[in-house]
Amino acid sequence: MNNIKALWVIIVVLSTIVVGVGYQVVMGSTVRSADGRTAIVLTKDERNFVLGEMRGLLGHMQQLVTAAADKDIDKTIAIAKILTGDTKGEKQVSIIAKTPLHFKKITKNIHSQFAELYEDAMTKRDVDYSLKQVSVIMQNCIACHGAYTLVEDKE
Ligand code: HEC
Repeated sequence: MNNIKALWVIIVVLSTIVVGVGYQVVMGSTVRSADGRTAIVLTKDERNFVLGEMRGLLGHMQQLVTAAADKDIDKTIAIAKILTGDTKGEKQVSIIAKTPLHFKKITKNIHSQFAELYEDAMTKRDVDYSLKQVSVIMQNCIACHGAYTLVEDKE
């Protein structure tokens, strides 16, 4: 009888852990922000790191538009190559853990589109085609900014 009780306690504890981990994966570390978006709670360093990456992204998008206007496919290829190599490292692991599932999906989506931009620029060598891809890629920027904001934890 005692064994069965102990078993139930173990089952309940394990279930709670599984639900907790699942909740963390889906929701990340988030709160609702005053403007209605979901606020991802990061440390000061993590937030500054992400915002720095974002400013880099904006610069690279600008360079892609210039490359297309100049009909310079080699420049497009060079920038796309930089974008495929972005965002790998230790710091990202703790940040990724704090982001919700939907945010991770958009991030994954934009990275696979950067890879596609690079591959297609290499094989097609068509600046107009690449520019169209850039405009599609930027829909990810818009979708994510519409849904999320970053806040510092107050510890
Ligand atoms: C998966 C989500 C996501 C994607 C995709 C994304 N961003 Fe961001 N970006 C954010 C969040 C969240 C912020 C912080 C916004 C806030 O706190 O109001 C941000 C902030 C920024 C900022 C402001 C940086 C600063 O110093 O304040 C720039 C610029 C920016 N993003 C550019 C881009 C561009 C360009 C793209 C697309 C090529 C992009 N972002 C794609 C989530 C994303």
